[in-house]
Amino acid sequence: MSLLPAFTRVLATTLIALVPLGMAHASDDNVKIGFIVKKPEQAWFINEQRAASELGQEQGFSVVRLAGEDGQQVLSAIDNLHAQGAQGFVICPPDVRLGMAIANRAKQYDMKVVTVDDQFVGGDGKPMADVPHLGMSGYKIGEQVGNAIAEEMKRRGWDMADTGALRISNNELPTARERTDGATQALLDAGFDKANVIDAPQQNTDTTSAFSAASPMFSKYGKFDHWVIYALNEESVLGGVRASEQYGLSPDDVIGVGINGSGAAFAEFSREKPTGFYGTVAVSSTMHGRQSAENLYQWIAEDKQPPANTETTGTLMTRDNWKEVRKELQL
Ligand code: GLA
Repeated sequence: MSLLPAFTRVLATTLIALVPLGMAHASDDNVKIGFIVKKPEQAWFINEQRAASELGQEQGFSVVRLAGEDGQQVLSAIDNLHAQGAQGFVICPPDVRLGMAIANRAKQYDMKVVTVDDQFVGGDGKPMADVPHLGMSGYKIGEQVGNAIAEEMKRRGWDMADTGALRISNNELPTARERTDGATQALLDAGFDKANVIDAPQQNTDTTSAFSAASPMFSKYGKFDHWVIYALNEESVLGGVRASEQYGLSPDDVIGVGINGSGAAFAEFSREKPTGFYGTVAVSSTMHGRQSAENLYQWIAEDKQPPANTETTGTLMTRDNWKEVRKELQL
């Protein structure tokens, strides 16, 4: 996915700003969209919403940023948006199984909906293909995580037989399953023994739930000398790394690789001493926010149907290159 179209438009908006106001974009002035996210306190989502608002400022539409941490909050957010005259919203839902309820509420108000990050799942357990979606290419990004871990294990000269793989899992959420399945498969392909892959199911997609899931596993499987840790996102891997520290493992014996490349990872890489959080596969939350908002805006303003499914890719970010990758991905 290229950022170019968005940039071209920035340029166009800048040029338009030079002509008398009355001539510019008069028809789009009333477009208002919502941007609802499941975890408003996480850096990934803060950046995604910020990027959408910035695009709105450049292109002349307004973005209302809202939290939707459970079903009730999402439905009230939609009511609220309707009351404000919004014509649609981008959403990362708190539970993908709310898809039907959310889509119905939107339809009732004649609002357009696109999903970002986590795709709605219908009553048949399949992704709701009629709602346009933009998200990570989960399995591939998971494989990148597994490959990065395998390479770092080799570099450190670890014996795989003495290494446990902590897979912090959330199997109810397809976004999570795809990513952790990809990572597991890459490890197995590199020669890792399946019996050493330990599942630690988390109830949510944050650091706290990952910490609780991971904590008991280090003592339960105390036989391992080293650990690798992966999960659907870096917030969860950080939960696992914090649990390993609490158990008393040294950073030299832990390789955690996350996904996102958000402020959570930047804070970790900025610490004076390395921790067990070795790296993260960074994806541009700026692009996710801009592109999903732009897709919706064009659907509303120009009746241009968004692509059914956009899959984005990632770049490995470590303590050594994080500043460059951050810049490259405009984070
Ligand atoms: C899910 C995760 C987030 C982030 C997004 C990216 O929603 O919970 O942390 O990884 O996917 O698409």
